Amino acid sequence: MLSHAIWVGLLACSTAFAQDFSTSPPVYPSPPTQGLDWEAAFAQAQAFVSNLTLEEKAQLVTGTSGPCVGNIGAIERLGFNGLCLQDGPLAIRQATYASVFPAGLTTAASWDRSLMYQRGFLMGTEFKNKGAHVALGPVVAPLGRSAYDGRNWEGFSPDPYLTGVAAEETITGMQDTGLQACLKHFIGYEQETQRNPSLSADNITIESVSSNIDDRTIHELYLWPFANGVHAGVSSIMCSYNRINGSYACQNSKTMNGILKGELGFQGYVMSDWGGTHSGVASVNAGLDMDMPGPISSDQNSSYFGGNVTQAVNNGTVNETRLDDMVLRIMTPYFFYNQSQYPPIDGEEPALASSFPPYVYQFTLGPANVDVRDEHQQLIRALGAAGTVLLKNVNNTLPLSAPKTIGIFGNDAGDLVDGEYFSGPAFQSQYGYEYGNLPVAGGSGTGRLSYLVSPLEAIKARAIQDGTLVQYILNNTLITTPGGLATILPVPEICFVFLKTWASEGIDRIGLEPDWNSTGVVESVTSFCNNTVVITHSGGLNVMPWANNPNVTAILAAHLPGQESGNSLVDILYGVVNPNGKLPYTIAFNESDYDYAPITNSTELLETEDPNAWQSNFTEGLLIDYRHFDYYNISVAFEFGFGLSYTTFEMSDLTINTIAVGNISAFPDASPIIPGGNPSLWGILYTVNVTVTNTGNTTGAAVPQVYLSLPQIPGEDPTPLNVLRNFDKIYLDAGQSQSVILPLARRDLSYWDTGLQQWVIPSGPIGVNAGFSSRDFRQSTQITVVA
Ligand SMILES: *[C@@H]1O[C@H](CO)[C@@H](O)[C@H](O)[C@H]1NC(C)=O
Ligand SMILES: *[C@@H]1O[C@H](CO)[C@@H](O)[C@H](O)[C@H]1NC(C)=O
Ligand SMILES: *[C@@H]1O[C@H](CO)[C@@H](O)[C@H](O)[C@H]1NC(C)=O
Ligand SMILES: *[C@@H]1O[C@H](CO)[C@@H](O)[C@H](O)[C@H]1NC(C)=O
Ligand SMILES: *[C@@H]1O[C@H](CO)[C@@H](O)[C@H](O)[C@H]1NC(C)=O
Ligand SMILES: *[C@@H]1O[C@H](CO)[C@@H](O)[C@H](O)[C@H]1NC(C)=O
Ligand SMILES: *[C@@H]1O[C@H](CO)[C@@H](O)[C@H](O)[C@H]1NC(C)=O
Ligand SMILES: *[C@@H]1O[C@H](CO)[C@@H](O)[C@H](O)[C@H]1NC(C)=O
Ligand SMILES: *[C@@H]1O[C@H](CO)[C@@H](O)[C@H](O)[C@H]1NC(C)=O
Ligand SMILES: *[C@@H]1O[C@H](CO)[C@@H](O)[C@H](O)[C@H]1NC(C)=O
Ligand SMILES: *[C@@H]1O[C@H](CO)[C@@H](O)[C@H](O)[C@H]1NC(C)=O
Ligand SMILES: *[C@@H]1O[C@H](CO)[C@@H](O)[C@H](O)[C@H]1NC(C)=O
Repeated sequence: MLSHAIWVGLLACSTAFAQDFSTSPPVYPSPPTQGLDWEAAFAQAQAFVSNLTLEEKAQLVTGTSGPCVGNIGAIERLGFNGLCLQDGPLAIRQATYASVFPAGLTTAASWDRSLMYQRGFLMGTEFKNKGAHVALGPVVAPLGRSAYDGRNWEGFSPDPYLTGVAAEETITGMQDTGLQACLKHFIGYEQETQRNPSLSADNITIESVSSNIDDRTIHELYLWPFANGVHAGVSSIMCSYNRINGSYACQNSKTMNGILKGELGFQGYVMSDWGGTHSGVASVNAGLDMDMPGPISSDQNSSYFGGNVTQAVNNGTVNETRLDDMVLRIMTPYFFYNQSQYPPIDGEEPALASSFPPYVYQFTLGPANVDVRDEHQQLIRALGAAGTVLLKNVNNTLPLSAPKTIGIFGNDAGDLVDGEYFSGPAFQSQYGYEYGNLPVAGGSGTGRLSYLVSPLEAIKARAIQDGTLVQYILNNTLITTPGGLATILPVPEICFVFLKTWASEGIDRIGLEPDWNSTGVVESVTSFCNNTVVITHSGGLNVMPWANNPNVTAILAAHLPGQESGNSLVDILYGVVNPNGKLPYTIAFNESDYDYAPITNSTELLETEDPNAWQSNFTEGLLIDYRHFDYYNISVAFEFGFGLSYTTFEMSDLTINTIAVGNISAFPDASPIIPGGNPSLWGILYTVNVTVTNTGNTTGAAVPQVYLSLPQIPGEDPTPLNVLRNFDKIYLDAGQSQSVILPLARRDLSYWDTGLQQWVIPSGPIGVNAGFSSRDFRQSTQITVVA
């Protein structure tokens, strides 16, 4: 192993702890796969590789044009039909008759492992039945360092533990169907601005932004959920567009050879993000296994891979054993999931494919427009509700009981009027479309709706049962024009204001309030309606300047619920579902509270002639989201982990059970590596046991959460005061109690020691806090693992 000193850093910084952003040290050669956990398939892949010509091997690692978003050409003489790779993290994006599931953000807000798994499984079924071998998801980077990142909603949460669980459940669900998952984007991909190189006024190539992240922060924050994914057996990982510590993610030997394939023992293949490859030999030797979509964007007829790989092997700059390893990494999951027996690619795909011409895919496609939706709308409706967070509910404003009059306001309430907008015109637009509900956001992580149930439609359908008078104005300009609400008579008993926040790949957000004069709309409605419920649909977190307005009597963060949007919401409003979502991020009081991790951007940078100018130093280290607000003792509007219910819960009887036998050492046992790294890290050392009681009058679900308080490490990044280290979701009838067991693995109790280059359990007491949010601890104790 290379001297860690280069990586760990010797630079004295202005801060009190060591952060070196200067280099990304070389780590060669690329560790070969051993097919761990995939032994039989690995043997099949070895036999397959032994029959390939050099040209065929090069073809297998290089994308080509075809019916899918990414395509690997077939090798007919060996019965290999090629690979079809499709977007994305919440739906098979461009397919007809497919479901649009709740976004990752909503899934995280459910804090429900079972729903996370089911969503992954049902998505997997749809991808497979459309003939896709690989789904380009889930997303764990961006993690959500910056609140403004345009793609945070595609992933789960800025908390690595919650994101790790969500990724693991999603991958397991997807791959249990026989589909390969692709966990993305590796690593440090935390802004859209300058994610790709650009040309300056003088035609100099200005390189992508470099995410400069110190070793401890990489391990404890940004790598954490990738470790879960590798441990869950993910087939592939996509490297990202940005640079890491000065070197492009898709040719960074430290992150790919060193961390991913070495330390984490990843056995599958690394594919590039589309156009994220910037070299041939250098990328191959740094650990990139597959170039997507294949051609160099500026020259559709050439590739950094393809013929260049053949040439590189022939001239000795790439070992053929390395090329064999690339093919083995690609073919082993294919055999493991028995993908030689697989449904055909949907015949409609070529018409829908956004991939570059010319279309030259040699294999017969299946029937067109296969309906893969089945009864998946039931899970979509349930998860949409489970990921809706009740933030305020004065005097039981909700649930509704047959109100006489309802008012509905805002351009997010109604149906879509602009057609299929999500990956088309709205791609890289700042505000998206004006009229229509926001079920999901835009870019490659979106979906093609086969229908949408809007909130207005669902509320009207429900209101008819109660004989409720329903009045509505969806035009935000009219709502905020003096006298604009004059037609609403009588003043409704309860008013609903629907706000939305667009976000899309390729562009970061420029504000954190919902769009379309949202605050004006709330002010307008609350000035005449003293019982106003605000509902947000949002591609990320929002600040809520109106949260304390006394006429705002309830607030629901409905996130991005997918195609059953209105039904999911009505279930919450009318108490069919007792709200049980919890915030997977923190809502601060002010937008400026998020300045600790700004998007790197400025007029100077946009006009620079310095190829290396775009540098983003992650100086906040581990302190993002609640870790930042807690460490600096900043009050917030609604904290991470918070969410109300129509009932109430109590917690009691905290005890700790020791699971590990004998003395526990500070360092993990030296064991042969498994996918996920050192196996000791995954071993359970303790369980935290608590009793949760439903003390209210109605059935509901609670989310008990365990936070650990690890000590500060001298000379290192500040340690967060508390970090989430387990949770569960439990459904309880009124008056019912249940004991909950929350295991703690060695990794959960460790920090990354930059000197030793391994996970270490700190000596002395570790605080254990159990409660219902990051600021609502009900029971506390300590464990001393290592004296
Ligand atoms: C980033 O950190 C490096 C030290 O590692 C420093 O030289 C550089 O000025 C910093 N860049 C910015 C934009 O803060
Ligand atoms: C490939 O080669 C192996 C020997 O390594 C042979 O047993 C096998 O039949 C060949 N497979 C195909 C599909 O040609
Ligand atoms: C930059 O390249 C473009 C396209 O090749 C060309 O039209 C333009 O004149 C060049 N600009 C400069 C400053 O060289
Ligand atoms: C090899 O890569 C270079 C860029 O490094 C490119 O110009 C060339 O066309 C590629 N060759 C082939 C055969 O694709
Ligand atoms: C070998 O081939 C590769 C790929 O075309 C090329 O980039 C490299 O410069 C060549 N090296 C030598 C020593 O010929
Ligand atoms: C090729 O493999 C040999 C033997 O394992 C190794 O010494 C050499 O460094 C490798 N070359 C490259 C370019 O990776
Ligand atoms: C809530 O109810 C209590 C008791 O009926 C009342 O005193 C209080 O004003 C109410 N609060 C609001 C905001 O309506
Ligand atoms: C929305 O209301 C404004 C103000 O009354 C009006 O000018 C505009 O035409 C309306 N938009 C639509 C789409 O009706
Ligand atoms: C980046 O900065 C430029 C110039 O200040 C601004 O016009 C643009 O909106 C910024 N982009 C983002 C995403 O903040
Ligand atoms: C936003 O709403 C306020 C009313 O609260 C109104 O005064 C203002 O004109 C609106 N702004 C725009 C741009 O429509
Ligand atoms: C609350 O609503 C009442 C009407 O019921 C209105 O008179 C009052 O000004 C409103 N308060 C605020 C803060 O908008
Ligand atoms: C709220 O508004 C309703 C209807 O306008 C009115 O009857 C009621 O008195 C108001 N309540 C308060 C506390 O202002």
